[in-house]
Amino acid sequence: MEPLETLIRDEIATTGPITCARFMALALYHPLYGYYAGGGQGREPLGWSGDYITSGDLHPLWGWTIARQLHQMWQLLNSPRHFDVIEAGAGRGLLAREIWRYAIECAPEWAAALRYTLLDRAPEQSPLRAAREQRLAGELTGLGAPSSAVTWAADVAHIAPRSLTGCIVSNELVDALPVHLLEKHGDTLSERYVALGRATGQFIEQIGAPSSQEVAAYLDAYKVPWRAFPDGWRCEVCPAAALWLRDISVVLARGFVLTIDYGDIARHLYTPNRRRGTLAVYMRHTLGEDPLAHPGQQDLTAHVNFTALIAAGRAVGLRLAGLTTQADFLRRLGIRAEAEAVAARLYPAADTERHTDRGQADYLRKRMLLGAVAPLLDPHGLGGFRVLIQQRGVSGAGRRLLGLQAEV
Ligand SMILES: C[S@@+](CC[C@H](N)C(=O)[O-])C[C@H]1O[C@@H](n2cnc3c(N)ncnc32)[C@H](O)[C@@H]1O
Repeated sequence: MEPLETLIRDEIATTGPITCARFMALALYHPLYGYYAGGGQGREPLGWSGDYITSGDLHPLWGWTIARQLHQMWQLLNSPRHFDVIEAGAGRGLLAREIWRYAIECAPEWAAALRYTLLDRAPEQSPLRAAREQRLAGELTGLGAPSSAVTWAADVAHIAPRSLTGCIVSNELVDALPVHLLEKHGDTLSERYVALGRATGQFIEQIGAPSSQEVAAYLDAYKVPWRAFPDGWRCEVCPAAALWLRDISVVLARGFVLTIDYGDIARHLYTPNRRRGTLAVYMRHTLGEDPLAHPGQQDLTAHVNFTALIAAGRAVGLRLAGLTTQADFLRRLGIRAEAEAVAARLYPAADTERHTDRGQADYLRKRMLLGAVAPLLDPHGLGGFRVLIQQRGVSGAGRRLLGLQAEV
C-alpha cells in the first residue's frame, strides 16, 4: 500500500470519516506524497508527459496573449516603476516564461518594471520544485531575462498588505482546491464523507450531516434553487476558493486579479441537469472513475463557481471588471492575427512556394501552428474556460481592458 493511503487510513481510523475536502487536501497537497508535491517520487504531474495538459502546453502564444493584457494593465495603471505579477499556482512556470519573452521582445520599458513571483504548493525542498526552478531559470537566461526575473514562494505571507501594484494571475488553480460533496434529499442537504469499509477496509463513501454551517448554507448563499432539484442530486462546494481570493488579494494596493479556469456562474453551474456534479479524476490523460483510488497519484478537480469569486472579491474591495470566455479573451487580444504573423515569419514559403518541397514543409508547419492554437478558441474545449478580471483602484478599467472589450 502507498504511504499516503496508509496515512489517510490512519487518520480515518483515529478521527472517523473525513470530508472529501480533507481527502483532497491530503491527496493533492500532502507535503511529501501529495499529487502536487510529486506523489512522493518527484513526478511532474503536468504536461504531455504527465497526467493532463493546460493551455500553456498547446502553444506559447497563449502566454504571449496574456502578456499583452498584462502589459496594457501596466499602461492603465500609468506605467508604474514597478509592476508586480504574482502568479498563483504557477506549476512549471510556462506562463512566466512567455510573459518575460513578450516583455523582452515587445515591451522593453515594461520589462524594466516587471517583477514576477511564482507561487505554488509544490514544496520548496521537493525534487519537483527544484526541477521546475532549474528549467525555468535556464529558459529565462536563454531569453536574456535579468537574473532577478522571477522569485519562487509558497504564498504571499512575506509580502506586506496593500503594498503591490500589478496583477495576480492564475490558470487552473481554483479548480484544484479541495471541495465538499453535497447530496440533496427532500429539503435536506447531506455531505458525503470518506470512511473505511468495515469488511474490506477500503475507502468508501458515507453520507452524513454537513460538516459545517458554511457548507450547509453554501448553495443558499448563492441563491441556488436546489430544493426544486431531483432527489439524489449531487454537487461540489468550495469555501476554500473565496478564502484563497481574500488571502491573496490582500497584497494588492492597485491593480487586477485575473483568474482563468473552467466553471461558470452559480446559476449555470448548479443546475438540475448536472445531477452528478463535476468532480473529475485525471491520470495519464485519461478520465478516471474513482476519486478515492490512488491518492497522490491522480488529479482531482471540480468546476469553479465564479459567482463565489466575484462575491468574495467584492467583500474585500475588488470590483468586477468583467467575466468572459477564454476564446473571446484571447481573440480580442489578437491571438489569431499573432498566430498568422508568427507563421508568416517562421514559414514564409507556406503561401508563396507551395509547389516546392520547402513550401510544402512550411505549409504543413503553418497548419500545425494554427492547429495548436485552435483548441484555445474552441468554445467546447479550452476556449470555454472563463476569464474573470477584478480590479482595485483602477476605475473604468473594465471598459478599457483589451481582453474584455467587445470587438468592433
Ligand atoms: C492545475 S495546476 C495548474 C498549473 C499551471 N497554472 C498551469 O496552467 O499549468 C494547479 C497548481 O496550483 C497549485 N496550487 C494549488 N493551491 C495553491 C495555492 N493555494 N497557492 C499556490 N498554488 C497552489 C498546485 O500546486 C498546482 O501546481
